[in-house]
Amino acid sequence: MEATDIDLAANMRNGLRRLAKAVVVITTVRDGQRHAMAATAVSELSMDPPSLLICVNRSASLHPVLATGASFCVNILETGQMDVSRACSGARKGEARFELGTWKNSATGVPWLAGAQASFECECERIVDYGTHSIFIGLVVDATVHGDVNPLVYVDGGYVTIGEPVA
Ligand SMILES: Cc1cc2nc3c(=O)[nH]c(=O)nc-3n(C[C@H](O)[C@H](O)[C@H](O)COP(=O)(O)O)c2cc1C
Repeated sequence: MEATDIDLAANMRNGLRRLAKAVVVITTVRDGQRHAMAATAVSELSMDPPSLLICVNRSASLHPVLATGASFCVNILETGQMDVSRACSGARKGEARFELGTWKNSATGVPWLAGAQASFECECERIVDYGTHSIFIGLVVDATVHGDVNPLVYVDGGYVTIGEPVA
């Protein structure tokens, strides 16, 4: 397979449109100021230690807060929470992102979204800067699960629900 740089970028973008991902909202707090961002570049890392990783663009308003090593929460959205994703991906800014949905605070003050499919509170263990993004590795210190399995999924540039099992 050979491609010019332009082909590569276009094909990579096009290819990644087929990578269906559950939508999460990453939250954090610093000096009493809450921050939230919709994301899909998130992965489980290991169970021992219990860990996740998130990839955050350096240009995102959440980034400088996470770069201080602040704890964060990864909230997996359910299908009824598309408006929360929209709010947290540019439609609203700052504290206004918390006007949709029911938000609570963990014992350490990190906001988490009630009614999300799951919320994982993480302590920041490591930060790896790579190109335009930073990878934040989080040690999961608390986990909440809610409702039936019904995650909001992002694929081909849009929000969908998961369909019927194929087998
Ligand atoms: C479905 C979806 C997934 C996204 N995934 C990521 C992601 O994984 N990492 C990231 O840095 N930005 C991601 N974004 C973009 C950010 O949500 C958006 O740029 C950010 O909220 C803008 O924040 P700011 O106004 O606080 O800077 C995603 C946006 C959408 C709609």
